[in-house]
Amino acid sequence: MTKHTIFLLASCFLIAISCKNQEAIQVYETQKLIEVDSMAVVTAHPEASKIGLEILEQGGNAVDAAIATNFALAVCYPIAGNIGGGGFMIYRDSSGQVSALDFREKAPRRAFQDMYLDSDMNIVKDASTLGALAAGVPGTVAGMEAAFLKGSRLKDWTKLLQPAIDLAENGFKLTSRQAKNLNNNQRKFRKANMNTSDFISRKSFKAGQLFTQKDLANTLRLIQSNGADGFYKGLVAEDIIECMELQGGIITAEDLENYTAKWRDPIAFDYKEYRVFSMSPPSSGGIVLAQLLNGIEPYPISDWGFQDPRSIHLMVEAEKRAFADRSVHLGDPDFYTVPVDTLISKDYTLKRMETYDPDKASLIDSISTSTLESEETTHFSIIDQWGGAVSVTTTLNTAFGSKVVVDGAGFILNNEMDDFSSKVGEPNFYGLVGAEANKIEAEKRMLSSMTPTIVEKDGKLFMIVGTPGGSTIITSVLQTIVNVIEFDLDLVDAVHNCRFHHQWKPEFVFLEDGCLPNDTRKALSALGHKLKSRSSIGRVEAIMIDENGISAVADNRGDDDARGK
Ligand code: GLY
Repeated sequence: MTKHTIFLLASCFLIAISCKNQEAIQVYETQKLIEVDSMAVVTAHPEASKIGLEILEQGGNAVDAAIATNFALAVCYPIAGNIGGGGFMIYRDSSGQVSALDFREKAPRRAFQDMYLDSDMNIVKDASTLGALAAGVPGTVAGMEAAFLKGSRLKDWTKLLQPAIDLAENGFKLTSRQAKNLNNNQRKFRKANMNTSDFISRKSFKAGQLFTQKDLANTLRLIQSNGADGFYKGLVAEDIIECMELQGGIITAEDLENYTAKWRDPIAFDYKEYRVFSMSPPSSGGIVLAQLLNGIEPYPISDWGFQDPRSIHLMVEAEKRAFADRSVHLGDPDFYTVPVDTLISKDYTLKRMETYDPDKASLIDSISTSTLESEETTHFSIIDQWGGAVSVTTTLNTAFGSKVVVDGAGFILNNEMDDFSSKVGEPNFYGLVGAEANKIEAEKRMLSSMTPTIVEKDGKLFMIVGTPGGSTIITSVLQTIVNVIEFDLDLVDAVHNCRFHHQWKPEFVFLEDGCLPNDTRKALSALGHKLKSRSSIGRVEAIMIDENGISAVADNRGDDDARGK
């Protein structure tokens, strides 16, 4: 491969629009595939990718770039990028040491099990998704500080914050998707806030419009000067508390002061000659991914082929069983003993797959939960010039989280409390059901599906992958990995091809609109699967390293962009 050569997929993808009464405006050029030798960043927004790459070029490592990228996404991708939310990081340093960082939100101290139920024990509509009561204690800023202390090469926090501050102060141009998303959420923003903010406008937001966030720039400056204390204490904390008091939330100063991010052991398991590292509880991602790969490993799926009904049937059946387990066994390990070793063992999955019938879809109610007892998140993948790798997934939960903008501080609070099981057996926003393990408890972290993942082949770094998409995160990561290592697809095809998803309940195999030829659909229906079309699934950002160098692919389902050199 020619050094520093960038191959654009076909040609540059132009983020262009054709809105009513507007001429098409080309806002950014994005790269969907790059092939490079030294370093790469793939994110959901070109401004964030650009900032991440600049930090790498200035001698920063993957952790430095991740911190700058994460703060940049909080500015230029406010639908999911955040300082008012949380997330997870898998970090493999250049010596091959892998660690997992948990900066998931926590339930406030005043939270309790039935807090979203009315006196008849029915779920109060929107209570866990819209408004201040839906917010968990944010974890992102503490997470970035923890990553900085452990892994930064530049050791210059000020420098890592500056690009995001400039972006907030000077503004960036909205893409058509962003303008549309903001316009579509105006009613909810108004309902969730007593004051106006940068996210509320009397006129429609337009593609190409400069979007500045002066309050957010000031908040980022406080974080720049004071580290995490600039968020969890002082003026920003006071703004959050005031917002809670005015708008019916329950986060207190004590909740903010007590928040800490945690380093945890990643979920690590082997799949054939590959070693996979992914997120441990309180995310379900790593465990469910292990169960899915363990479930398909004994079968000749590569002989069956990509999108063959036999391959899809097998994956769907593994998904039903793993998601059934998720609903019962997974929760915050600080509150509930998660049987990690059992769940990720090959023997356990083999037993679960004993009822797998190659000729017939199992009915979801026949899959017992074993007795061992707008999907808006964002992912980015980074590799640095020393082979250090970071895989980060972060979120406010649904689009723009709780829609609450902290007055004076300019950032949006998450609605992550909806990821708890508000009532046993009742589906949350993603249709996921849960029970005791994931019930609401004070200071507990809510269960997640985020699956930032790093794969090694023969002991060497091979893939960095992850995606947004709520419950579909895990199955999208699975398909991307399997597409590469079993179906031999190149990374672009592995990421850009259509996806399917099953999560035990509801009963459907969800397919992206237009996904799969009619014959394949018919074959799946004949096996007894109920198929349901839906909008796009996931936005995978993936990097692959092989003997030819580094390939980085941004999903073509959004404004996502890959940069490197
Ligand atoms: N809020 C989505 C997740 O954490 O899975």
